[in-house]
Amino acid sequence: MQRYFCQPGSVIGGEITVPGDKSVSHRSLMLGGIAEGTTEVRGFLESEDCLATLAALRTLGVSIGRFGGNRVTIHGVGPEGFKAPTAPLDMGNAGTAMRLFMGLLASQSFDSTLVGDSSLMKRPMERVAVPLRLMNAAIDTQGGLPPVVIHGGQALKAIDYHLPVASAQVKSAILLAALRADGRTRVTEPAPTRDHTERMLTAFGVEVLRTERGVAIEGGQTLRGASIDVPGDFSSAAFFLVLGALAARKGLTIRGVGINPTRTGLLDMLIMMGADIRVRSKSAVDGAGQTAGEPIADIEVRASRLRGITVPEALVPLSIDEFPVFFIAAACAEGETLVRGAHELRVKESDRLAVMAEGLAHLGVEHELLADGIWIRGGKGFSGGSVDSHGDHRIAMAFAVASAMASGPLEIRDVANVATSFPGFVDTARRVGLQLDAA
Ligand code: S3P
Repeated sequence: MQRYFCQPGSVIGGEITVPGDKSVSHRSLMLGGIAEGTTEVRGFLESEDCLATLAALRTLGVSIGRFGGNRVTIHGVGPEGFKAPTAPLDMGNAGTAMRLFMGLLASQSFDSTLVGDSSLMKRPMERVAVPLRLMNAAIDTQGGLPPVVIHGGQALKAIDYHLPVASAQVKSAILLAALRADGRTRVTEPAPTRDHTERMLTAFGVEVLRTERGVAIEGGQTLRGASIDVPGDFSSAAFFLVLGALAARKGLTIRGVGINPTRTGLLDMLIMMGADIRVRSKSAVDGAGQTAGEPIADIEVRASRLRGITVPEALVPLSIDEFPVFFIAAACAEGETLVRGAHELRVKESDRLAVMAEGLAHLGVEHELLADGIWIRGGKGFSGGSVDSHGDHRIAMAFAVASAMASGPLEIRDVANVATSFPGFVDTARRVGLQLDAA
């Protein structure tokens, strides 16, 4: 089992980039796969999660070329060009891959089965199966969990669906199925969630109707191959934003980060806490005349005194993947921080509320675990010790950030899954001064 060993006393600062956005990379492969023509992707995230999507598409008969420098070329097979897989498609640790593939495969003429690793096999899939069944898809889960079996040969029809939970994965699965449904599908969200699918569908030539509360698309539209520049992943930058806000006395700059406003709730939360952050926006990432429509920026952060906050619930979906590292910021901020309305954290790669609470307890942080959130009294920093990430990549990286503020050495167990989202994390962390070894 892989571990990180972190020493205290780091001097943090410098300038870095982070790997490409995971959500955008998954979508670039999937949309490129069902498009007509060739799609060029630059800045693709070569992490285990995205490579699971890539391998599944190859199994479905899509030819994908990988080149150095994170460049990928996808030779789209068009809306009806997938080949029937001869074995279950393995999504690894990737919830996004499994849920979006459910939407893509629901309208195919063949049967398919989706499986994943031990974490993914415990994650809820009915949230996607329910609306797809309303569209006439035939999908089986095992008591709500994978394996997911999708029976082909179903003619899909459009639906008007109000999402019961704010989930971009569910929304995206419905939109992908809607491309091949008869009529106009409408999805209404209880709160805005990441809109990469909508932006990228537009880049592939699909007419996407956006309303204040949701999105609609007409079935039967064809995608045309596109040129996609993937921005740096805000969720990977988040670890360094918090690290910088806690410890970078001379500043830490992260270049070329995606700042799609449906992803940057953490910036608002850190600024509310008193963090010293400057965002220098660049023009939207622009590939040869076509674009995934994602804004990027360089973000500079400097250490300052942070104060605890009550997180506005509207920010929760906009920072959903950033809570593990946000809790580290909260543990260092003066006073109390309260997060509510975050029950979704319990069904991520791990139960992120419970696993973070367990780690904070080991490091001497006063807190109370709530059904839908957590209360933390910050300001005392962390003791050294040993914490278990429970195989959750974002928890492993969050505690690596905590090590900069710990009074003794910190061991983090079960960290191999960092490779699902952030290949090169250890090198980047060391470059900005974290004293971290992997073994
Ligand atoms: C994602 C959506 C979010 C997020 C996940 C990636 C996506 O999940 O947590 O890491 O790419 O659509 P939910 O839709 O379950 O909130």
